[in-house]
Parts: sequence; C-alpha cells; structure tokens
Amino acid sequence: MLIVYKILEKREIAMRNTWYKVQAPHVAKKVQPGQFVIVRAFQNGERIPLTPVMWDRDEGWIVLIAFTRGKTTMRMATELKEGDYILNVAGPLGNPAPMEKFGKVLAIGAYTGIVEVYPIAKAWQEIGNDVTTLHVTLEPMVMLKEYFEKAVSRHIVEPVKFDPDKSFPENMKNVTKALTGKVRELLETEDWDLVFMVGPPGDQKAVFNVVKEFGIPMRVDLHPIMVDGTGMCGACRVTVGGEIKFACVDGPEFDAYQVDWDELIHRVGFYSKLEKLALEKYME
Ligand code: FES
Repeated sequence: MLIVYKILEKREIAMRNTWYKVQAPHVAKKVQPGQFVIVRAFQNGERIPLTPVMWDRDEGWIVLIAFTRGKTTMRMATELKEGDYILNVAGPLGNPAPMEKFGKVLAIGAYTGIVEVYPIAKAWQEIGNDVTTLHVTLEPMVMLKEYFEKAVSRHIVEPVKFDPDKSFPENMKNVTKALTGKVRELLETEDWDLVFMVGPPGDQKAVFNVVKEFGIPMRVDLHPIMVDGTGMCGACRVTVGGEIKFACVDGPEFDAYQVDWDELIHRVGFYSKLEKLALEKYME
C-alpha cells in the first residue's frame, strides 16, 4: 500500500515555528505521548526527529511543529505548501512517557520544547496528576497557550523580550536567566513531586542545577542528534547513570540526575558550524 504524507495544514504559529498537520494514519493510530517520528521531507534530504503534538486516530492525522533552525527546517518552512507531500514519516519511535500518578508536577518547556511537553502534560493531567506547565521563551515564540490552558491545572508563560538588534544567542542568555529564576521561585514557594523539562540541553542543565538544590525528582526528554531513530547509527548516544544509552530506543525520557550533561552539550554542538554553513549556502 502506498502511504502518502499529505500536508493538510501549514502555518507559522510563532517566530521560526511552523505547524504542519500531516496525514499519517499509521502514526496517528499508535502514537503515545512522549514518542516521536523521523521525518524525511525531501529526496536525499536529512532526517529530522519531530514530535507529534496532537493527533486524531480516526481521521489519521498528526500535528508536527518544527523550529526553523537549519537548512532542512528552512526548506520545509519555505518550499512546502498545503497540499504538498512529505516524503516519509517513520514512527512512532521511542518509548512513551510513563503514565503514573506522580502528584504535583511542574512540566517546563523552553522555546519549542513546549510542543513536546503538551501531549505528556495533557495525559498526566487526565490520569489525575495536578500539572502546572511553564513556558519560557522569547516573546515572539510563545505558542499553544490556549491549548495548555484547556489541558492542565495552570499554565504559566514567561515571555522574554526579544531584541532584534542582538543575535539569537545573545537573546537566548536572557531566556536562561528568566527560566532559572522562575523555576527557583516556583520551587521555593510550592511543594512539587516531579519536575519534567524539554528544551535545549544547556537550559535543561541550568534548570537541573536549581532543581537538585531542592532534591526534587526530575525527568527530561533529551535531544541529541538523531539519524535513523532505531538504535542503529549511534548518533544519539548519551551517557546516563554511567552507561551508554541511545536516546531513540532507550529514551527519550531519562532521570535528570543520571545524565552526563557536559557530554550531551558537547555532542549536540558537534555539527553546529556545518549546519550554519549549509543554511548560509541555501540562503545565498
Ligand atoms: Fe541512530 Fe539513535 S538515532 S541510534
């Protein structure tokens, strides 16, 4: 049977973030919160991991939200239109998030990390947890607010002023500061049973350093570089509890206290110069 991945809807929902509603019945039928797919949008193109944010099992669609970061996501954002087809969507991959009664949960999303938090936080709330979500990002990148407000006990947004005259990394420093400051305030003023976070590894580490002062359990979804998403290529290797793990098949969720953060941050930056070059070349 020929499977086609038609783009049913496409729109920019926040600065550098594009919403794709894609026909993918085999994914929609089985996907669980916490799982991801590997998308190959173009012939001979790069494979990128993306998270189904919402889905309809009967209608057979999933929603993916991609942050425009490198050449592939830029090509997707600029070349693909509604009615076009994505070449393939492999998945669902990875382990579903544990569906347990933790109690009072603080689920944090930095930048586009919030899109991964959505299905997990929603499901945790549905099974009886008291979930507060926190989205810290640059102001023009705030998204999904109305969805979170319907899905969890409380949704907090901390928008950080975006200065267009400064570089993106310069702006990002203010996000890290706002993030750790808000997390500290929440941990100091309320009791929590679990902290969960998705976002860039540098920000995850910064938040973890705050959380560990309070001794609260913390879980994280990790985002190392991925290629096949099935445990074959080794690209997503992380060290957790002193053991080598592959985020795609052993994760993506891990205990933050066990993660070798410095190794992860180093590995994620491996190809950043090449990524920048590829994007610059594409934009010429
Ligand atoms: Fe290749 Fe995980 S992406 S082993």
